[in-house]
Amino acid sequence: MATSDTAQSDLVRILTCGSVDDGKSTLIGRLLYESKAVFTDHLRSLETDSRKHGTQGEQLDLALLLDGLQAEREQGITIDVAYRHFATRKRRFILADAPGHEQYTRNMVTGASTADIAIILIDARKGLLRQTKRHTLIVSLLGVRSVVLAVNKMDLVDWSREVFDTIADRYREMASSLGIDSVTAIPVSALTGDNIVERSQSIPWYSGSSVLTTLEEQPVHKDGDHSGFHLPVQWINRPNADFRGFAGTIASGTIRVGDSVLVQPSGVTTVVSDVVAPSGSTNSASTGEAITLVFADEVDVVRGDMISGASTPAQSADVFQATVVWMHDEPLLPGRTYLVKLNTRTVTATFHRIKYLLDPETLEHVPADLMSMNDIGVCTFSTVRPLNFEPYRSNRTMGGFIVIDRHSNATLGAGMIEHSMRRSENIQWQDVDVDKEARSSLAGHKPCIVWLTGLSGSGKSTIANALEKRLFASGVRTYLLDGDNLRHGLNHDLGFTPADRVENIRRAGEVARLMVDAGLVVICAFISPYEAERDMVRSMVGTDEFLEIFVDTPLDVLESRDPKGLYAKARAGKITNFTGIDAPYEVPTNPDLRVDTTSSPIDESVEAIVDVLTSRQIIDT
Ligand code: ADX
Repeated sequence: MATSDTAQSDLVRILTCGSVDDGKSTLIGRLLYESKAVFTDHLRSLETDSRKHGTQGEQLDLALLLDGLQAEREQGITIDVAYRHFATRKRRFILADAPGHEQYTRNMVTGASTADIAIILIDARKGLLRQTKRHTLIVSLLGVRSVVLAVNKMDLVDWSREVFDTIADRYREMASSLGIDSVTAIPVSALTGDNIVERSQSIPWYSGSSVLTTLEEQPVHKDGDHSGFHLPVQWINRPNADFRGFAGTIASGTIRVGDSVLVQPSGVTTVVSDVVAPSGSTNSASTGEAITLVFADEVDVVRGDMISGASTPAQSADVFQATVVWMHDEPLLPGRTYLVKLNTRTVTATFHRIKYLLDPETLEHVPADLMSMNDIGVCTFSTVRPLNFEPYRSNRTMGGFIVIDRHSNATLGAGMIEHSMRRSENIQWQDVDVDKEARSSLAGHKPCIVWLTGLSGSGKSTIANALEKRLFASGVRTYLLDGDNLRHGLNHDLGFTPADRVENIRRAGEVARLMVDAGLVVICAFISPYEAERDMVRSMVGTDEFLEIFVDTPLDVLESRDPKGLYAKARAGKITNFTGIDAPYEVPTNPDLRVDTTSSPIDESVEAIVDVLTSRQIIDT
């Protein structure tokens, strides 16, 4: 039970992994119950719940302690990560309970990213399962260095030493192949309490410690204890005109008043004049502490900057190799832009290549052109601005990031930086004297991209062609990029998978950007079914140089027109991934213009586009 003498004890974070049936909830419930960490009011409701939902007759069902949500109880499964605090005389613990189902990888990754020790539960009757390997892989990738292997339900295998040894040996072998060398295997029965808190009387052949004692005694290695000082700045603390401090949680190292520090990326150095902890000014603070630093000089620091020891700057790079765990229905598509949040800095990032996916069972490297929900893989990505980081294996806080959707802000995946990759230093930007402005002044109009998007057969190419003729006749310098045409050359190697379509638009966008730089009005006709890539092209040039025209023709009209017979083929299953039939089309949410080829003739659509170009002062006709 928590007493005052635990106040100085260290804090250990535990992750529990196992499936619904392994008895995980019972094990955790017993740990909490027997270490008296359960509050009395919670106990009272547990007694009522045990009678209502329990599987243990009149006895307390300890598993119910863990099932915080009514819905979970009714489904009989645990569905979210739950953190529980408990303490013994030796240590304080935060226990993260991650459900075992494969679809909840996200919860497991969340719990594992901060854990010091993982408890992996195995049902003695079943041995190692597919998910045991998967859990161990995630635990190892996320840098958890020690595992307590609880071989549960030993009462159901007559406390057999042979069963236990076989499981423990096989597990150790597997864990060591994944780089986990510290495995403490313990035969337990969560139901009867054997070896959970007290040593079991039923297992005379076992001379080791109980689960709780192991958790109390297992040495834990904390990240950053011995490395340079790094503080990612979370906010600027400015309560009044006289005080200005930089607040955040120390990612690694120790800081003292009088230390010289370096602000990254600006490179400015200064001296720490005060270290303010929640309890007030202090002389020093270390890893994991939330503090505010005050500097001797006026220095520009913004949220997302890194304050490092003057002689231990964090690495800085804009291209990386990382292990990524994907956790969303939306796939990771190379070429697509996302947001990457590392510490307190969020930047736009593009994944370039999936080097391979890891088969969680065989650990084989599997080639892939996208990552789906629950995939684990090694990818390369680049960011628009450099990030200050350290490799994840040396510091989890400094090298762990999440991938965020640019529109919905949903967390899509989590990643661990392995190392930076150098852009070749031999390639630099060359200055040019004749620039976009010079070229467009010669042309007599501004450059821009007119981006026509819509389903196949909607009339994009026809409108694009008519628009180019109309502009050309008025002396506007134009070029037409048409999806079908580019697929004969530049994009010859691409098909219609989601990954290929992203790459198709990325390339087309890059070409269009060059043409804008050349001073042209570039007309682009691509299905471009994803909003993310249309937005990517927009952000390549700038909002005032990009017009999104939605050629909106209803699917039933297209199917009845069907000049190339493609819709009929798609319906018959002869073409797959056909937009509108078995591949999605994301309708533009805020196009600059919507044209409807069923209600207005082509000329009218063309004039409507010309009107937009004129009103935006791109052309003057
Ligand atoms: S995009 O989706 O990647 O933007 P793009 O505009 O280049 O497509 O090419 C679309 C053209 O390819 C269509 O007009 C059609 O003629 C042809 N096509 C062939 N297969 C497909 C398919 N599965 N889905 C859509 N269009 C297809």
